[in-house]
Amino acid sequence: MLILIDDGNLEGIKEVYSKMPCDGVTTNPSILKRQNKNPIEVLKSIREYLPPQAQLHAQVISLKAEDMVREAQHMRSILGDDLYIKVPVTSEGIRAMKLLNDLNINITGTAIYTAMQGFIAGKAGAKYVAPYINRLDNMGADGVQVAKDIHDMLKTSNLETEVVAASFKNSQQVYNLCKYGIGAATVAGDVLMGLIKHDATTNAVDVFTNDFYSLVGENKTMLDV
Ligand code: G3P
Repeated sequence: MLILIDDGNLEGIKEVYSKMPCDGVTTNPSILKRQNKNPIEVLKSIREYLPPQAQLHAQVISLKAEDMVREAQHMRSILGDDLYIKVPVTSEGIRAMKLLNDLNINITGTAIYTAMQGFIAGKAGAKYVAPYINRLDNMGADGVQVAKDIHDMLKTSNLETEVVAASFKNSQQVYNLCKYGIGAATVAGDVLMGLIKHDATTNAVDVFTNDFYSLVGENKTMLDV
Protein backbone atom coordinates (compact mmCIF):
# COMPACT_ATOMS: atom_id res chain seq x y z
CA MET A 1 0.00 0.00 0.00
CA LEU A 2 1.37 3.40 -0.96
CA ILE A 3 1.38 5.92 1.86
CA LEU A 4 0.67 9.50 0.84
CA ILE A 5 0.54 12.55 3.09
CA ASP A 6 -2.73 14.48 2.85
CA ASP A 7 -1.34 17.93 3.57
CA GLY A 8 -0.28 21.21 1.97
CA ASN A 9 2.01 22.51 4.67
CA LEU A 10 5.59 22.09 3.48
CA GLU A 11 7.11 22.09 6.97
CA GLY A 12 4.60 19.46 8.11
CA ILE A 13 5.27 17.38 4.99
CA LYS A 14 9.03 17.60 5.55
CA GLU A 15 8.67 16.48 9.15
CA VAL A 16 6.52 13.46 8.30
CA TYR A 17 8.71 12.58 5.31
CA SER A 18 11.81 12.57 7.51
CA LYS A 19 10.18 10.14 9.94
CA MET A 20 8.00 7.86 7.83
CA PRO A 21 8.33 5.90 4.59
CA CYS A 22 6.10 7.92 2.25
CA ASP A 23 5.28 7.82 -1.44
CA GLY A 24 4.00 11.33 -2.08
CA VAL A 25 1.51 14.04 -1.19
CA THR A 26 -2.13 14.74 -1.93
CA THR A 27 -3.86 18.09 -1.58
CA ASN A 28 -7.33 19.43 -2.12
CA PRO A 29 -8.65 23.02 -2.35
CA SER A 30 -9.57 23.09 1.36
CA ILE A 31 -6.09 21.93 2.35
CA LEU A 32 -4.59 24.66 0.14
CA LYS A 33 -6.91 27.26 1.67
CA ARG A 34 -5.41 26.48 5.08
CA GLN A 35 -1.96 27.52 3.78
CA ASN A 36 -3.26 31.04 3.01
CA LYS A 37 -0.71 31.45 0.17
CA ASN A 38 -0.79 31.31 -3.62
CA PRO A 39 -1.88 27.69 -4.17
CA ILE A 40 0.29 27.13 -7.24
CA GLU A 41 3.33 28.40 -5.32
CA VAL A 42 2.49 26.02 -2.47
CA LEU A 43 2.22 23.10 -4.90
CA LYS A 44 5.47 24.12 -6.61
CA SER A 45 7.34 24.14 -3.33
CA ILE A 46 5.96 20.71 -2.42
CA ARG A 47 6.95 19.33 -5.85
CA GLU A 48 10.45 20.76 -5.52
CA TYR A 49 10.85 19.16 -2.10
CA LEU A 50 9.55 15.71 -3.02
CA PRO A 51 11.84 13.03 -4.47
CA PRO A 52 11.35 12.70 -8.25
CA GLN A 53 9.56 9.35 -7.97
CA ALA A 54 7.09 10.63 -5.34
CA GLN A 55 3.52 11.31 -6.40
CA LEU A 56 1.81 14.70 -6.17
CA HIS A 57 -1.98 14.92 -6.50
CA ALA A 58 -3.73 18.29 -6.95
CA GLN A 59 -7.31 19.12 -7.78
CA VAL A 60 -8.88 21.15 -10.58
CA ILE A 61 -11.45 23.78 -9.60
CA SER A 62 -13.33 24.25 -12.90
CA LEU A 63 -16.82 22.82 -13.10
CA LYS A 64 -17.05 22.15 -16.86
CA ALA A 65 -15.16 19.27 -18.43
CA GLU A 66 -13.33 21.28 -21.12
CA ASP A 67 -12.29 23.85 -18.50
CA MET A 68 -11.04 21.06 -16.24
CA VAL A 69 -8.88 19.78 -19.10
CA ARG A 70 -7.42 23.26 -19.72
CA GLU A 71 -6.77 23.66 -16.01
CA ALA A 72 -5.12 20.24 -15.82
CA GLN A 73 -2.83 21.07 -18.74
CA HIS A 74 -1.85 24.36 -17.09
CA MET A 75 -1.12 22.62 -13.77
CA ARG A 76 0.99 19.98 -15.52
CA SER A 77 2.97 22.65 -17.37
CA ILE A 78 4.04 24.03 -13.98
CA LEU A 79 4.09 20.94 -11.77
CA GLY A 80 5.25 18.28 -14.22
CA ASP A 81 3.65 15.68 -16.44
CA ASP A 82 3.61 13.09 -13.67
CA LEU A 83 1.15 15.20 -11.66
CA TYR A 84 -2.05 13.38 -10.70
CA ILE A 85 -5.00 15.60 -11.56
CA LYS A 86 -7.75 15.18 -8.99
CA VAL A 87 -11.19 15.40 -10.56
CA PRO A 88 -14.43 15.12 -8.54
CA VAL A 89 -16.83 12.41 -9.69
CA THR A 90 -19.56 14.76 -10.89
CA SER A 91 -21.03 14.08 -14.32
CA GLU A 92 -18.80 16.84 -15.79
CA GLY A 93 -15.91 15.34 -13.84
CA ILE A 94 -16.46 11.91 -15.38
CA ARG A 95 -16.65 13.55 -18.83
CA ALA A 96 -13.39 15.35 -18.06
CA MET A 97 -11.78 12.05 -17.00
CA LYS A 98 -12.54 10.54 -20.39
CA LEU A 99 -10.98 13.56 -22.13
CA LEU A 100 -7.96 13.58 -19.82
CA ASN A 101 -7.48 9.85 -20.27
CA ASP A 102 -7.37 10.32 -24.06
CA LEU A 103 -4.55 12.80 -23.43
CA ASN A 104 -2.68 10.29 -21.22
CA ILE A 105 -2.97 12.54 -18.19
CA ASN A 106 -2.82 10.89 -14.74
CA ILE A 107 -6.24 11.17 -13.09
CA THR A 108 -7.35 10.70 -9.50
CA GLY A 109 -11.13 10.52 -9.15
CA THR A 110 -12.05 12.22 -5.91
CA ALA A 111 -14.94 13.14 -3.57
CA ILE A 112 -16.17 9.54 -3.76
CA TYR A 113 -18.98 8.52 -1.44
CA THR A 114 -20.35 5.42 -3.19
CA ALA A 115 -18.80 2.30 -4.64
CA MET A 116 -20.34 2.90 -8.06
CA GLN A 117 -18.85 6.41 -8.24
CA GLY A 118 -15.45 4.82 -7.69
CA PHE A 119 -16.04 2.12 -10.25
CA ILE A 120 -17.29 4.54 -12.95
CA ALA A 121 -14.29 6.83 -12.37
CA GLY A 122 -12.07 3.80 -12.91
CA LYS A 123 -13.90 2.96 -16.13
CA ALA A 124 -13.46 6.58 -17.24
CA GLY A 125 -9.70 6.23 -16.96
CA ALA A 126 -8.78 7.30 -13.42
CA LYS A 127 -5.54 5.74 -12.18
CA TYR A 128 -6.68 6.24 -8.60
CA VAL A 129 -10.10 6.69 -7.03
CA ALA A 130 -10.46 8.29 -3.61
CA PRO A 131 -13.32 7.26 -1.32
CA TYR A 132 -13.64 9.44 1.79
CA ILE A 133 -13.46 6.95 4.64
CA ASN A 134 -14.07 9.06 7.72
CA ARG A 135 -16.64 11.32 6.09
CA LEU A 136 -18.60 8.18 5.14
CA ASP A 137 -18.32 6.87 8.70
CA ASN A 138 -19.66 10.18 9.99
CA MET A 139 -22.69 9.78 7.71
CA GLY A 140 -23.52 6.45 9.29
CA ALA A 141 -22.07 4.51 6.35
CA ASP A 142 -19.06 2.17 6.47
CA GLY A 143 -16.18 3.97 4.76
CA VAL A 144 -13.77 1.04 4.96
CA GLN A 145 -16.36 -1.25 3.40
CA VAL A 146 -17.02 1.20 0.54
CA ALA A 147 -13.28 1.31 -0.19
CA LYS A 148 -13.05 -2.50 -0.09
CA ASP A 149 -16.06 -2.80 -2.44
CA ILE A 150 -14.49 -0.39 -4.93
CA HIS A 151 -11.19 -2.32 -4.75
CA ASP A 152 -13.02 -5.62 -5.42
CA MET A 153 -15.12 -4.21 -8.26
CA LEU A 154 -12.05 -2.76 -10.00
CA LYS A 155 -10.19 -6.07 -9.69
CA THR A 156 -13.23 -8.12 -10.81
CA SER A 157 -13.46 -6.02 -13.98
CA ASN A 158 -9.69 -6.20 -14.58
CA LEU A 159 -9.31 -2.44 -14.40
CA GLU A 160 -5.85 -1.16 -13.47
CA THR A 161 -7.30 1.61 -11.31
CA GLU A 162 -6.29 1.50 -7.64
CA VAL A 163 -8.07 2.86 -4.61
CA VAL A 164 -6.35 5.74 -2.84
CA ALA A 165 -8.43 5.84 0.30
CA ALA A 166 -8.71 9.33 1.83
CA SER A 167 -10.19 11.12 4.83
CA PHE A 168 -8.84 9.11 7.76
CA LYS A 169 -9.21 9.97 11.40
CA ASN A 170 -7.73 6.93 13.10
CA SER A 171 -5.22 4.08 12.76
CA GLN A 172 -7.89 1.40 12.68
CA GLN A 173 -9.33 2.70 9.41
CA VAL A 174 -5.85 2.67 7.82
CA TYR A 175 -5.03 -0.77 9.26
CA ASN A 176 -8.22 -2.35 7.90
CA LEU A 177 -7.50 -1.13 4.38
CA CYS A 178 -3.79 -1.97 4.48
CA LYS A 179 -4.66 -5.52 5.53
CA TYR A 180 -7.08 -5.76 2.62
CA GLY A 181 -4.43 -4.82 0.04
CA ILE A 182 -5.80 -1.46 -0.97
CA GLY A 183 -3.53 0.39 -3.44
CA ALA A 184 -2.86 3.56 -1.47
CA ALA A 185 -3.95 5.59 1.52
CA THR A 186 -3.57 9.33 1.89
CA VAL A 187 -3.36 10.27 5.53
CA ALA A 188 -2.75 13.45 7.55
CA GLY A 189 0.56 13.58 9.42
CA ASP A 190 -0.86 13.14 12.92
CA VAL A 191 -2.81 10.01 11.96
CA LEU A 192 0.25 8.67 10.12
CA MET A 193 2.48 9.11 13.16
CA GLY A 194 -0.20 7.38 15.24
CA LEU A 195 0.36 4.23 13.16
CA ILE A 196 3.66 3.53 14.94
CA LYS A 197 2.96 4.99 18.36
CA HIS A 198 2.69 2.40 21.15
CA ASP A 199 3.35 2.90 24.88
CA ALA A 200 4.63 -0.68 25.18
CA THR A 201 7.34 0.10 22.60
CA THR A 202 8.35 3.25 24.47
CA ASN A 203 8.49 1.29 27.72
CA ALA A 204 10.53 -1.52 26.16
CA VAL A 205 13.08 0.97 24.84
CA ASP A 206 13.30 2.61 28.29
CA VAL A 207 14.10 -0.75 29.88
CA PHE A 208 16.73 -1.61 27.23
CA THR A 209 18.38 1.79 27.59
CA ASN A 210 18.47 1.67 31.39
CA ASP A 211 19.86 -1.88 31.37
CA PHE A 212 22.67 -0.80 29.04
CA TYR A 213 23.42 2.30 31.13
CA SER A 214 23.62 0.19 34.30
CA LEU A 215 26.08 -2.12 32.51
CA VAL A 216 28.47 0.47 31.04
CA GLY A 217 27.49 3.88 32.42
CA GLU A 218 24.95 6.65 31.95
CA ASN A 219 24.46 8.00 28.40
CA LYS A 220 26.91 5.48 26.91
CA THR A 221 26.20 3.76 23.58
CA MET A 222 27.99 1.07 21.57
CA LEU A 223 30.25 3.88 20.33
CA ASP A 224 31.70 4.25 23.81
CA VAL A 225 32.47 0.63 24.79
O1 G3P B 1 -8.28 14.96 0.26
C1 G3P B 1 -9.58 14.58 0.54
C2 G3P B 1 -9.80 13.97 1.87
O2 G3P B 1 -8.61 13.49 2.37
C3 G3P B 1 -10.53 14.83 2.83
O3 G3P B 1 -10.21 14.52 4.13
O4 G3P B 1 -10.11 15.03 6.51
O5 G3P B 1 -11.26 16.63 4.96
O6 G3P B 1 -12.29 14.43 5.47
P1 G3P B 1 -11.02 15.19 5.34
